[in-house]
Amino acid sequence: MCYQCPLCHQPLFEEGAAWRCANRHQFDRAREGYVNLLPVQHKRSKQPGDSAEMMQARRQFLNEGHYQPLQQAVCQLLASVLNANQPYRILDVGCGEGYYTGAIAATFSSSTDVRIAGLDVSREAIRSAARRYPSVTFCVASSQRLPFITGSISAATRIYAPCNPEELSRVIRPGGYLLTVTPGPRHLLQFKALIYQDVRLHDSAAESLPGWTLCSETSLAYPLALNSDSAATLLQMTPFAWRARPEVWGRLATGGAFACETDFMVRLWRHQG
Ligand SMILES: C[S@@+](CC[C@H](N)C(=O)[O-])C[C@H]1O[C@@H](n2cnc3c(N)ncnc32)[C@H](O)[C@@H]1O
Ligand SMILES: [Zn+2]
Repeated sequence: MCYQCPLCHQPLFEEGAAWRCANRHQFDRAREGYVNLLPVQHKRSKQPGDSAEMMQARRQFLNEGHYQPLQQAVCQLLASVLNANQPYRILDVGCGEGYYTGAIAATFSSSTDVRIAGLDVSREAIRSAARRYPSVTFCVASSQRLPFITGSISAATRIYAPCNPEELSRVIRPGGYLLTVTPGPRHLLQFKALIYQDVRLHDSAAESLPGWTLCSETSLAYPLALNSDSAATLLQMTPFAWRARPEVWGRLATGGAFACETDFMVRLWRHQG
């Protein structure tokens, strides 16, 4: 991938087990193959991003296949627009433990010059992703300052992850694509009802992305019937977990199957350039 130095913004070159820029800034490749491009002065906390517990809960839940329809929809949409035999560079921003990144890599595995990268601010998530998906190039970095050369990315995905839109516009080339997944109005409504007295529907309006054209907007919604373990795991991987009182965890553990709705908004944007 076309990394740039997070300190001086010069291109980074791979030399042995490290990435170096012309100004001699050096970033070592970890044993698992990823590189940490998050300088300590850019960190907002000691361990930014999802914790190891959240990451493990997400991996367990995703492994059970509950979000497989979304994984397929993301891969199909990307494959439908990146269908020529070209040197595509695809970035998964806020990739977590790599569930979607790995599937994107598998989708393009027979293409000769397509490279897939995953970026997350959580070192735990990237370490785990790099172990599991060795064909993907992973880095620890913040989506607020993407360590990629301007215009070097053909397409990016942003699935339930924060990002700086100006940085996306900088790194994605003119004519390139951005695929976003955000919660639809009824996403996990029944979970929220366990925790909040006044449950509000998610706002489903598309964010405004200056310089981008919205090409398609698809709602993907389907019911989930979760056993108590999966329901507790799902709660653990959401931001609702820390608000959930002990009674809520108790109800999930003893209440039998838990029925809830998924509701995803999948949008494809094209960079006007
Ligand atoms: C809800 S999770 C989604 C992970 C993955 N896209 C998925 O859907 O499985 C959000 C992810 O964004 C990451 N994250 C949060 N703030 C970030 C930032 N500033 N830069 C990069 N990643 C960030 C978290 O560590 C976490 O892995
Ligand atoms: Zn440098």
